[in-house]
Parts: sequence; structure tokens; C-alpha cells
Amino acid sequence: MMRGAVAVLTLLIIITIVRCEPQVPCYFIFGDSLSDVGNNNDLVTKAKANYPPYGIDFPGAIPTGRFSNGRVFVDRITELLEFDNYILPFSSAKGEEILKGVNYASGAAGIRYETGQHLGERISMYDQIMNHNETVAKIKEIGKTSAVPKLEECLYTVNIGSNDYINNYFKPGYYYISSSLYNPDEFAEELINQYAANLKILHSLGARKIAVFGLGLIGCSLGEIYTFGTNGSLCVDKINAAVQPFNQKLVNMVDDLTMELSDLQLTYIGSAASTDTGSAIADAPCCKVRDDFQCIEFEAACEGRNNYIFWDGFHTTEAVNVLTGEIAYSALDTKHIHPVDIKTLVSIDRESMINQVKNSMSSLVSSA
Ligand SMILES: *[C@@H]1O[C@H](CO)[C@@H](O)[C@H](O)[C@H]1NC(C)=O
Ligand SMILES: *[C@@H]1O[C@H](CO)[C@@H](O)[C@H](O)[C@H]1NC(C)=O
Repeated sequence: MMRGAVAVLTLLIIITIVRCEPQVPCYFIFGDSLSDVGNNNDLVTKAKANYPPYGIDFPGAIPTGRFSNGRVFVDRITELLEFDNYILPFSSAKGEEILKGVNYASGAAGIRYETGQHLGERISMYDQIMNHNETVAKIKEIGKTSAVPKLEECLYTVNIGSNDYINNYFKPGYYYISSSLYNPDEFAEELINQYAANLKILHSLGARKIAVFGLGLIGCSLGEIYTFGTNGSLCVDKINAAVQPFNQKLVNMVDDLTMELSDLQLTYIGSAASTDTGSAIADAPCCKVRDDFQCIEFEAACEGRNNYIFWDGFHTTEAVNVLTGEIAYSALDTKHIHPVDIKTLVSIDRESMINQVKNSMSSLVSSA
């Protein structure tokens, strides 16, 4: 009898330990191929990654549609938030699975609707938010009969815009006319206006804790270097220069929307990517690439994948993605974030966040 009771008690304790709650009740993910976990698998597009060698280092060595050899950065954030499972793609999440969150990200997608169209179907930022509207309706429906998470306590991340440069502005001749309509500053302005309008819709659907991601050094990706050449530089400088105003305006948008929407907690996470890659291999992809710089189907991948920066011509290896997720969750320094990292975003309220901005500003003033 006693031994039975002890066993039951022990079991209860173990269950309590294993079933610890994640730091937020749910996590919703918006973005492009950097965040996609399978939404493009059933779309008619060249921008999909559900074939080997993609996924070679994912549990089970399964090609899930992730554009890497293993996890993507939102997977690492999901782990750090202490979820038991990765957030499922909208295309396959069903029933009560959506209560933990949904991933809407779509390879080749951009802020602008036409972005990526030469590759085929994709789900633009606005369409992803419309898919989220469907999820919200389903959650309300489930809420009639059982407990559902409070959407305002959940985390939302948005990492989008790279394709508006790679597969639009810097792809003239594929019916994209944006580079003849706008100079880089005007184009960035257009993108950010649309971005802000989309975020307001997301806010109207209950989102309160949102992290938006700045764009990385797109001009240093192998795909762009192979396409444009570097003219003796390390990277395609004109592309990196064109993306800079986007990141600056995104930071400003964070401040503007925070002023405008009195219950929103919005933060900017900049890319910590640098041209100094240490001893890692940055001048070759790990897999053999097609002429669109994705991996060739069923070709072998390189050995020592952790030593590579690039998995294919545009996407980084799992090793880089893991680091990206970790720095976004817990920033090493405040240079790349405005005003807080994700760990802080999910743990403090709006007032504390605004105080943090005031404090950092007064310390800037006093150190000036
Ligand atoms: C969300 O969907 C509902 C129908 O379920 C619709 O009435 C509403 O206009 C949609 N919201 C947005 C922001 O489009
Ligand atoms: C290449 O670099 C030279 C010297 O910096 C510059 O004058 C020229 O405009 C560049 N060409 C292109 C295509 O960027």
C-alpha cells in the first residue's frame, strides 16, 4: 500500500515537472522562408523545401519544408519559450493544436503582394494575417466549450521584407517594376507603410506583444553575390545600402505605433549578422545549388555543416539559425534591439517597457 502511494506521489511530481507551462500561452509566427515550417509544401511554387537534403539534421532527418538542414530560428525561440513542441504550420495545424499558436510564414512571400510571384504561389504578409483571422475565429469557437488562451498574452513575431528586395526590387525584368517607380528610400517607405497597416490589423485581432525583425545583410548572401558580383567588395554593397533605410524606418515605426496604440508592446530585433564570420565557411553553400540557389533535389550535403554559414544560396545553416534565435530571445547587447529582447517582451508589461525606453534615453543624454 505505502509503496503504491509513494509511487503515485512520485508519478504526480514527475508529471508536474514535465508539464511546465511555456512562458506565453501561445506563439504566432509571420514571415518568409526564414520562418516557414511547411506552409509552401502544397503550393505551386519553386520556393519549397520539402525534399532532401533539406531537413537532414532535423529530428528524424525529415524534410518538413524548413529552408535549412535543421531548425529555423523560430524553432529555437519556441524552445527557449519552453514549449514542448514546435509551432505547427497553418497548412496542417488542426483542432486544438492551434491553441499553442500557429506558424503562417511562407517562402518567397513579402510585404508587397506581387513579391515572389515569378516563383509561383506564396502567402503575402496581408494574406498571412487573414489566415490568422481564421485561426482567431476557430479559437473563439473552441472557447465556447473549453478553456482557450488569452490572445493578448501570446507572442507574435514578424520577420518579412527580404523578398521585397531579393524577389522584387532587385529582380527587374521579371515583371517587377518597383525599381523603376521608387528609389530605395521611397521603396522602403512604401514597404513600411504597408507593414504598419498590416500590424494594425494584427493588433485589431488581439495581438499585443509583437516583435518585428530587421533585415540582415542580404547583399552578402551567396545568391545575390553570384547574381550581381561584388565589384571587388565583400558583398553586393548597393543591396545592403538599399535595405538600410528599411531597417531605420522599421525602428521608427515601432516608436510611432507604440505612441498610437496605447495597449501595444512592440519591439524591434535587428540582425546581428556581420561580414566577419570568423573561421566559418561563408563563401560556399553546404548543398549543391540549382540556378535559383536552392538545393538540388536528392544531392548529398556537405560534411561539417556546423562550420558553414550558408546551407543553400540564400538560407543559413541550423547552427546560424540557432544563434539567431538565441540572440533574439536574449540579446547580448542593446545595439540591435529597440527597446527590448523577446525574453523581456514576454515577461514585462507595457509601462515597464516604456520606462525602459525612457531610462535608456536619459542614460544616452547623460553620457553625451
Ligand atoms: C475576419 O473574419 C471575419 C469573418 O470571420 C470578418 O467578418 C472580418 O472582417 C475579418 N477581419 C478582418 C480584419 O479582415
Ligand atoms: C565598381 O567600383 C568602382 C570603384 O569603386 C566604381 O567606380 C564603380 O561604379 C563600381 N561599379 C559597379 C557596377 O558598382
